[in-house]
Amino acid sequence: MNIDYQVREGINCLKNGGIVGFPTETVFGLGANADDVDAVAKVYSVKSRPRGHPLILHLAKLDEASAWVEEIPPAAYTLAKAFWPGPLTLVLKAKSKVANHFSGNFGTIAIRVPSHPIARALIIGLGRGIVAPSANRFGRLSPTSASDVFEELGGKVDLIIEAESCSIGIESTIVDLTEDMPVILRPGIIDQEKISMLLGKDVVERVSKTNKAPGSHPVHYAPNTPLTVVYRDQLEKFLHKDTNGLSVAVLGRSIRPQFSGAAVWQVAPTESLPYAKNLYSLLRRLDKSGCELIAVEEPPYSSEWMAVHDRLKKSCIPKMALVEFIRNVKEKKFKNIQHGKNK
Ligand code: TXA
Ligand code: MG
Repeated sequence: MNIDYQVREGINCLKNGGIVGFPTETVFGLGANADDVDAVAKVYSVKSRPRGHPLILHLAKLDEASAWVEEIPPAAYTLAKAFWPGPLTLVLKAKSKVANHFSGNFGTIAIRVPSHPIARALIIGLGRGIVAPSANRFGRLSPTSASDVFEELGGKVDLIIEAESCSIGIESTIVDLTEDMPVILRPGIIDQEKISMLLGKDVVERVSKTNKAPGSHPVHYAPNTPLTVVYRDQLEKFLHKDTNGLSVAVLGRSIRPQFSGAAVWQVAPTESLPYAKNLYSLLRRLDKSGCELIAVEEPPYSSEWMAVHDRLKKSCIPKMALVEFIRNVKEKKFKNIQHGKNK
């Protein structure tokens, strides 16, 4: 489909109070004109997202932030110079009352300048900021293609822009600059080391503080099928003993081994960047495989994998719930067999 035409339609739609599924370099967003209170309300309702969860404001350049924030601290200039446009979101102190309809009344505002040409064209064409959460139903995996957005939100969105899938594939790094010490609220491709080096000071990671944390629900970014992460050296036991009798789809780190026992085996890329880029689309694929459980072979623990670990952790079913889930499925199958025999 013609991109210019789609962008023109997208801009018109946003100007007229519509909501638009559009690509960014990280994931697809569900955009609304940031000034349009009704359109923003529609974004929340279409996603079934609680109003207390603030949205990211997407701008074309850092200067535009001064209309929204109290001040732009030096650290924001430093990080923006290095990483904008790009997959970084900065949380700054909001000017009072300017963004209450999308900032959850925290007195802060999260701002990102995306690099994707379509996202940029929409913002520039609208001439105002675009608020956009990831274009998925609340708590589910973020979409990385137009068809994922359709699958998630379908006809509830006024327009979905067709485009290549997203080059980064997981959501932006979020850095809170409202306190003395910069805090990473959501890890991403731009990691702690890079940020700390640039700012010349320690940067802490705090992903679980509920009042500020993005995606702070215990299970966020989750497929429908229960998902667990399994150490490589425990995979054989997991498939043959722990889950024996269940159909398991594995996201493996190499080709299907001899022992397998998996109903479906999908190989993931070996390097962290392509792994992140494909993670959500592969999980969506495994989710549709009809298997009862998804097992992800644990990736390495070096710093470039931290954002992937964060997303996997947020996709996982808690350990106790997993044990119970496996027991229930097995019991149900056992009962069905007995029932079949008794007939
Ligand atoms: O890569 C991304 O950031 C994508 C693309 C579309 O830009 N957007 C995205 O939006 O991931 P969303 O809403 O799915 O996740 C943004 C997170 C939310 O969980 C929210 O809690 C957090 O950012 N957030 C937004 N405003 C905030 C604020 N003022 N303080 C702290 N966290 C904030
Ligand atoms: Mg999201």
